[in-house]
Parts: sequence; structure tokens; C-alpha cells
Amino acid sequence: MREKVELLEKRRAESELGGGEERVEAQHKKGKLSARERLELLLDEGSFVELDRFVVHRSTDFGLENQKYYGDGVITGHGRIDGRLVYVFSQDFTVFGGSLSEAFAEKIVKIMDLAIRNGAPVVGLNDSGGARIQEGVVSLGGYAEIFLRNTLASGVVPQISAILGPCAGGAVYSPAITDFTYMVRGTSYMFVTGPNVVKTVTHEDVTMEALGGADTHASTSGVAHFAFDSEPECLQQIRDLFRFIPSNNLSDPPRGTAKDPRDRRDESLLDIVPDNANKPYDMHEVIRRIVDDGEFYEVQRDYAGNILCGFAHLGTFSVGIVANQPAVLAGVLDINASLKAARFIRFCDAFNIPIVTFEDVPGFLPGVAQEHGGIIKHGAKLLYAYCEATVPKLTVITRKAYGGAYDVMSSKHIRGDFNVAWPTAEIAVMGPKGAVEILFRKEIAESDDPAAATEAKIEEYREKFAHPYIAAGRGYVDDIIDPRNTRPALIDALESLQGKRDRNPPKKHGNIPL
Ligand code: HXC
Repeated sequence: MREKVELLEKRRAESELGGGEERVEAQHKKGKLSARERLELLLDEGSFVELDRFVVHRSTDFGLENQKYYGDGVITGHGRIDGRLVYVFSQDFTVFGGSLSEAFAEKIVKIMDLAIRNGAPVVGLNDSGGARIQEGVVSLGGYAEIFLRNTLASGVVPQISAILGPCAGGAVYSPAITDFTYMVRGTSYMFVTGPNVVKTVTHEDVTMEALGGADTHASTSGVAHFAFDSEPECLQQIRDLFRFIPSNNLSDPPRGTAKDPRDRRDESLLDIVPDNANKPYDMHEVIRRIVDDGEFYEVQRDYAGNILCGFAHLGTFSVGIVANQPAVLAGVLDINASLKAARFIRFCDAFNIPIVTFEDVPGFLPGVAQEHGGIIKHGAKLLYAYCEATVPKLTVITRKAYGGAYDVMSSKHIRGDFNVAWPTAEIAVMGPKGAVEILFRKEIAESDDPAAATEAKIEEYREKFAHPYIAAGRGYVDDIIDPRNTRPALIDALESLQGKRDRNPPKKHGNIPL
């Protein structure tokens, strides 16, 4: 027996060597951690339980039968984040470049099936040269098995992807289906085809970083939700995300631990919205002054800055915040903002996270580029996402709520549960200037002093429509509140909505305008 246990120990130790010391050192030289070091940073200390450490590939082509590594290039299993169960895989670039073989895919599929069955999130640490070229179609089949699990798990358990190395070919489609993608500047890349193929096909010269680096995807394409300077920071941020999200679609999100008083009024909220409606202000400030301890876990911070999305705790309740940002493009809704917020809202709705909307929106962005780019169908995604969401929906109109954007941004008409306005709110079909130019064009043109006539009409319109009292008179907002009381008002509402039950009609699935 003792001999057998010794042999077991020897093999277990061997399974932890990856592709060998030299390759691990090469990995470190590139500024990357090893697959096991990453798991140590991601998971609670000592919590990792490895599965399938003795799996090897079954390939016999290209001399592979003589090159076998325990684990076959991916470490899989489960562990804990803040004591909560998560399933993980960590691709090991030191073994065949982390490339995906049939056996490698089977290991990932196994933990994904377990995660779905046991209601626990999946965190995938990706660092891979893609399909294992020597295995051919068997490897492609393995990818497809993973894509299927990603799709079936979507909306059942949260799925998080960290891109910590190259991620090319079809391999990018697994992270793309998952809920949040984290990247690291200088070492992680995502592209369907790399710079060499791009050069051959389109004759464009582009670097890896510019084509598919972290900043490119976090700010230009919107493929990544987060970009960080180092792997430890990236892994810590993934841990932080778990403070806001539940383990599965049947669980409530975790409560926060902040001691911020629930009845805290904030005097400075009186001075945030400028008197001049054309002047911007930073909606981040509004959010920070209202949420627990001012902490806002912002998602896609560098993409479509005209809308803000992120998580916070309010009176210790976890909430998803969606907010127009007057400081960027006047907070207008365009294609990118609609896509960003629609996907975020759907995540919150799938995982029982109430949505708090801060609204100051002049409307949808006009223009040929937007129309030809499909603002109609993309804007409709945002509308659809808000309409179908059945989690508690709370809306605060801080200033402008004009046109279709009024309807879209979680209005009462699309099942907003608690809609309030600040006294500075302007709720109407359009802003005073646009309205006057349409309604009184002839009258103004015929007047002796068109500029003065325009001003007078704008003032008249502003007095008549640019306030929240008509909406409040109809019950389209539940109340007009003192901005200083926004935090206690939202926390009260969240409390009252804890038992909310709302269902959409039974269906196979809806047909969101893709
Ligand atoms: C087998 C691979 C591999 C692969 C890398 N390796 N990619 N082995 N299959 N796909 C091996 C290398 O042979 C090498 O082995 C080791 O991994 C490290 O690779 P290097 O090239 O030395 O590393 P580096 O210079 O850092 O370059 C990394 C790389 C490059 C950019 C990822 O290796 C590369 O371009 N690989 C191929 C990428 C690719 O085209 N994959 C297929 C995509 S198509 P040794 O023994 O020397 O250490 C695809 C289809 C998916 O994935 C379909 C889903 C629908």
C-alpha cells in the first residue's frame, strides 16, 4: 500500500509541473503567471479541488503519442470565492501552447455540466493557441461542445472569462457568449484572425495590440468589459465582482456589508444639476453620493461613455445601475450605448438583480451614420431589454427625459416599479428649442425679430412642458422628490419590492431584435 501511495504522490507532483520549468519561466518572462498561480490568486486560499489531473490526450499523429502531460494543458475543478462555490478552468500555455484537444475540451465540459447542475458560476482563465492543430476536427468538435454549454448555462449561472494570453480563431466565441470578459494590457489578445492573416486578406498593417489587445476591446469593439494592467489586479477584480452577483438564477444576490446609514441624505445633490439645461455634469457623482460607501463597480467604463452601467449596493441590496451620462455626448442614446446597456440589463434580469436607472437623456442620436448603422434595431434592443425585465425596476429622472428615450429608460409604461423625478426634471416629447422650431416656424419667420420671438416661445414652452408636474399629474412618475432624499427613497422602494412577483407570458423564447 505504502508504495502505491508513494507512486500516487509522485504522479500528483508530476501533474503539477505543466510543460516544465523552462516553459513556465518563459511564461513569467512575458509578464504572465502560470495556470496554477492564477488559480491561487483567484480562489480563497486552499479551496481549490482539482478534477481530472491525470487526463492525457489520445492523439497519435505527428509524434504526439510520445508527448503526454498529465492534465493535457488545462487545470479544472472547483474552489471558493468569498466562501462561495465556483467552477474553474485554467488553460496552461506551457503545455502545447494551451491548445485545445479532445481530452482538454472534455475536462472543461465536465466542470461546466457540474456548474449548471450545482448552480455555481464558471470562471474560465483563457491562455491558448486555439484548436490543437495536430488533432484536427476532433478539436473543433471539442470547441463546439463548450459553446453549447456556454449557451445552455447562459442565464442559469454567471459565466466569467479572463483572457490572459492569446485567444484566436473560434476560441474567442466561448468568452463572447459568457457574461463578462476581463483582459490584461500587453499580454492578452482576442481576434478571429491574427495580424498576418489580416495582412494577407485586407492588406492592412496592424499590431496584435491594436487589432485585439485589451484597450482595443475595452474601448473600441466593446468585446471586453474590463482591461487591467496586471494579472493579479484582473483576478482580484473578478473576485470583487462576486460581491454583487448571485451564484445562479434561483438565488438572490449577496448583500453588501457597508455600514452606510440607510437614511443618509446628501446635501450636495442639491447642487449637482446645473441651472442651465445645456450644461453637463458627471452622473458618476450622482451615483457615488447615493450608493453605499460611494462604491460603484463600473462595467465597460471605457466604452460608450454616454451611458454608465455597473453594480453597487444600496442599503446593502445589490443593484445594477444604468445611467445616462450628460458629460459625454450630452447623454444621448446611440448604437453603442444601447448595446452596452441592453446586455447589462439582461444580465441583471437573469440573475435577480434590481435595476436602478438614473435618467438624463436628450433622446436618440440623429445622423446618417447612426441610421445606416441600425440605430432603430439596436435602440430597440435596449427597449426590449427594459420591457422584458421582471426584476424590480427603479427610475430617477434627474433632468431630461425626452422623446422615445423617455419611454425606453425604464418608464412606468414598461413596468417601472418606482419612478420618481427631481424637481429639475424635464419630461416632454422634445426639448424646448426643437419643439419651438417645429411648432412656430412660420410665426417666428414672419415676426419682426425672429431671435426674440424664438426666445419668447422657448420660455413659454419651457414653462408649459419642461418640468415633471404633467407626468406626475398623470401618475407617470410616482413622486417628485427632494434630490437629497434619493438614497432613502430608493432603499425604501427596494425593500418594498423584495417580494415582487412578475412573469412574462409563457413562450419558448422571445425574438429580441438582433
Ligand atoms: C498545437 C500549438 C498551438 C496549436 C501553439 N502551439 N499553438 N500546438 N496547436 N494551436 C505550441 C507551439 O507549437 C509551441 O510548442 C508552444 O505551443 C508555444 O507556442 P509559440 O508559438 O512558441 O508561442 P508564441 O510565440 O507565444 O505564440 C503564441 C501563438 C502562436 C500566437 C498562440 O503559437 C500561434 O499563432 N499559434 C497558432 C494559433 C492558431 O492559428 N490556432 C488555431 C486557430 S483556429 P513548443 O513545443 O515549441 O513549446 C481555431 C479553431 C477553433 O482555434 C474553432 C472553433 C470554432
